[in-house]
Amino acid sequence: MRNINEDTITQAVIAAMSDCENDRLRTVMTSLVQHLHAFAREVALTEAEWYAGIKFLKDTGHITDDKRHEFILLSDVLGLSMLVTAQNNAKPEGCTESTVFGPFFVDGAPALRNGSDISNGAKGTPCYVRGQVRGLDGEAVPEAVINVWQSDEEGFYDVQRPSESGQHEHRARARLLSDAHGNFSFRSILAMHYPIPHDGPVGALLWALGRHPWRPAHLHFMIEAPGYERLITHVFRKDSRYLDSDAVFGVRSSLIADWVFHESSPGADGEDEEFYTLDYDFVLNPSGAAN
Ligand code: BEZ
Ligand code: FE
Repeated sequence: MRNINEDTITQAVIAAMSDCENDRLRTVMTSLVQHLHAFAREVALTEAEWYAGIKFLKDTGHITDDKRHEFILLSDVLGLSMLVTAQNNAKPEGCTESTVFGPFFVDGAPALRNGSDISNGAKGTPCYVRGQVRGLDGEAVPEAVINVWQSDEEGFYDVQRPSESGQHEHRARARLLSDAHGNFSFRSILAMHYPIPHDGPVGALLWALGRHPWRPAHLHFMIEAPGYERLITHVFRKDSRYLDSDAVFGVRSSLIADWVFHESSPGADGEDEEFYTLDYDFVLNPSGAAN
């Protein structure tokens, strides 16, 4: 393998992988190399541009840790996360649609009873959420594990806030179980629109591209029950800004819901306080169902 030139390099790299015993890896890497080389040819990539790309990836790696998932953000803003979500989660009509997972899920959120206040000190206007988990034939799904997480009124998730104790403090996130009739309920705070983290390389890229970092207000849900496919989704506020320009392309019309405003109810201190309610049901796809 000598004197490889710009016309023969692609085939040479593909041939170099021919002994790979992992068929799927070989298929994926062959395609990746073909597309990467085609991209470099199509845009006539310069050496300076190649280096800028390498530096961008290096910076993305440097800022990444267990709490700051800059590579996921990159995938999100390039639409790759939503593409992979969409092509792996086709469901029959009537099922709740999936959308992006996002970088702010935390494993091991507190297990709380239905009706609990999940905010745990996160600031925002009170909001009461209730709904039912059903299967495609309308059957109630009892004991579904419902993970819910959201940002506070300033648009920050608990993991983005420094913790006083040094330990992660779970705020505005919880794990609930649907009851015998598939119902669930909790109190939380009103979801607000917020910008994805944009103080790193991905934010600089958005800025350079003339794009904004905002996401419309939403609640995240992950729902799991035996016999059904896991559902990862959001519910979006109908009156939110950015529904038509979500920085990560995650909005689905079927996931937009009405948060109903209520002028007052007696708050904990006896004062009247405004609150919102949201009713939203989820329909799970039975495992092994045809799409
Ligand atoms: C989120 O909704 O939490 C999210 C999704 C993608 C990128 C950043 C945040
Ligand atoms: Fe979010």
